[in-house]
Amino acid sequence: MVTKFLIFFFLSIIALTSVTAEDGTGFVGSPNRKFLGLKTKEKLSHFRFYWHDILTGSNPSAIQIIPSVPKYNTTTSFGLVRILDNPLTLGPELSSKQVGRAEGLYASASRSELSLLMVMNFALTEGKYNGSTITIMGRNRALSKVSREMPVIGGSGIFRFARGYALVKTHSSDPKTMQATVEYNVYVLHY
Ligand SMILES: *[C@@H]1O[C@H](CO)[C@@H](O)[C@H](O)[C@H]1NC(C)=O
Ligand SMILES: *[C@@H]1O[C@H](CO)[C@@H](O)[C@H](O)[C@H]1NC(C)=O
Repeated sequence: MVTKFLIFFFLSIIALTSVTAEDGTGFVGSPNRKFLGLKTKEKLSHFRFYWHDILTGSNPSAIQIIPSVPKYNTTTSFGLVRILDNPLTLGPELSSKQVGRAEGLYASASRSELSLLMVMNFALTEGKYNGSTITIMGRNRALSKVSREMPVIGGSGIFRFARGYALVKTHSSDPKTMQATVEYNVYVLHY
């Protein structure tokens, strides 16, 4: 009984000190990494998948929510915003295994060239990554033949504290259906 009480007492102290170590009000503290399940070293993971932007057909995955501003250069579509829930697949074919979805939006943000501001959460569904997300925000010169680079600015679940970058290359795009398949290579540092 006494030991049980002591154990409870020490656990309470540990729990309390993790919250109130630095500030008697409980506003800020220095939690122990182990209690948060954080390992001491980060690891680097490389994910590769294909992102499908489907703009036409009966079930588009990306839809325009704000049109471009007509007084600006129409080839840059300045002002256009699309919201997306795009499938992420292991291979370049839409029918290949789905490993997650990209939820977010992109906005045409340059008056002088086609350059997108992209804000997306990759909601992964594969294996132990199911339920974890990777957040991307960056600039994408979508028509460029070379790889574009966008920062990984964070994540959730397995990707808490994540940082890194994505290298992005268009695999195919169909000017008629406006469907684009883009290869994503995502390098993430996470615990
Ligand atoms: C419109 O944008 C295109 C593509 O970037 C560019 O080649 C062209 O010079 C621009 N036109 C004007 C009037 O700015
Ligand atoms: C991912 O998790 C959800 C909810 O926990 C579950 O319904 C789904 O079947 C899982 N998907 C895969 C591919 O394991």
